[in-house]
Order: sequence, then C-alpha cells, then structure tokens
Amino acid sequence: MRRPVMAGNWKMFKTQAEARAYFSALVPLVQGSTHCDVIVAPPFTALAAAVEAVRGTAISIAAQNMHWEVEGAFTGEVSSGMLVEAGCRAVIIAHSERRQFFGETDETANKRVKAALAAGLTPILCVGELLAEREGGKTEEVLERQFQGGVAALTGAEFSRIILAYEPVWAIGTGRTATPEIAAEAHRFLRRQAAASFTPERAAGLRILYGGSVKPDNIKGLMAQVEIDGALVGGASLKAEAFASIVNF
Ligand code: 13P
Repeated sequence: MRRPVMAGNWKMFKTQAEARAYFSALVPLVQGSTHCDVIVAPPFTALAAAVEAVRGTAISIAAQNMHWEVEGAFTGEVSSGMLVEAGCRAVIIAHSERRQFFGETDETANKRVKAALAAGLTPILCVGELLAEREGGKTEEVLERQFQGGVAALTGAEFSRIILAYEPVWAIGTGRTATPEIAAEAHRFLRRQAAASFTPERAAGLRILYGGSVKPDNIKGLMAQVEIDGALVGGASLKAEAFASIVNF
C-alpha cells in the first residue's frame, strides 16, 4: 500500500507573517489526519517561520527549488544544505514553471534530484506535457523524456526515495483539471517507465501525485483512482481551510 501524500505548493505567495497565520489555522484542521503525509512548500523567505510553526506536528516543510552545488559563486541560488539546516525535509524539483520561465532542463532537474538525495531531502520531481504536446499526440514521448532525464543514473535505493508529480501544464492554474481517467492513464504510463528502468517492486512503491487545478470538490474523484497517490496543490493550498479539506478528502 502506498501512503498518500498531500502537498501544497505556495509558489510566490505569502510572507512570514502570513505563513504563521496560515499554520495556526491549518494545524488544528489536520491534526487527526494520519492517513497521509502532509507537505507544504512555502517560498524560501518563509521556510524558517513555517518550520517553526509546524514543530511537533506531522506536517513537513519543503522548498520549491534548490541548486545542485553544495556552495559557490551562484548569486541568487540556495543549496540543499541550507534547506536541511532551515528544517526542510523535501524539495520540489523541475516544476513546469521552472521549466517554462527559468530554463530548467531534464539535465539540470537530474542534477538537483541527485543533490537533494545526497543531502537527505525527498525530491518531488515534476513532469507534465504542454497543451500543444497533448493535442499533438506527444504526451507519452514528453513524459518518457522528462521521467528518464530526471531519474537518470539513480540507484534503485535512491529511486525509492523520490516522489513523482504529474502536472499537465494545461491544467495548472487554469481551472481545467485533468479528468481522473486522464490523470490515471498518465500515472500508469509513468509507473510502467519506472518498472522498466528500475524494478516492478520499486515501481509499485513509487508515489505519483497529480497536480493541476486540484480543489476540495474534485479531490475525491481523483483519489478514487488507485493510480493516484495524492496531489500537488497550487492555488487551493493557499487557504488553510481549502487545503485541509483536500487533505481530509
Ligand atoms: P494549481 O493547483 O493552482 O493549478 O497549481 C498546480 C501546481 O502547479 C502545483 O505545483
């Protein structure tokens, strides 16, 4: 049985003060939620405040990106060690917004995944096709390239520590969710890739989250698919009540 994961990606939203207020509302709402892992990814500047606010709870804090080098002359970047010291347990890697707007490639995604694993962080590796790619019949080709590129050269043991997120770009922030069937089909394809590259056992243990306009009113249908192991939630994770009702679907 794969343990579900409900993860919130705040993107570039919330100050430290807003983060504290959010967690004082969220913590009591998910205190009894032992059926899944709960992860929240604030922006860098609110990480320490978030870690402080969830101390003693089962909520984990993740960063939204990291550099692959341990340290160096890389203005504007943050390393894995810095995230670990701040109290992060996970890190989102290669979100489609990083791919679209900040030059993320499968090669840099792979470097980040390896560096995150080496630092003891859980990488949440994101893959997903553009609308034009789906309409052009290229979904599987894109997912295969992004998956294989992202996990290249990982050992089986390392692979077992990652979380995968399928986020079709056409469903992100658009209010247009993939149907549970469309999402499950992509998840099945990704799991077959994992089985071929690693082992069927490791593939069976891989947690694959769906992301893209997940809301309190569509989470139940998505989670009814055995292939969907949780959600990576953007907009609806910004309100504690909405995110709690997704967690407690
Ligand atoms: P929305 O839930 O706002 O569509 O964002 C999804 C996402 O990008 C999560 O990483």
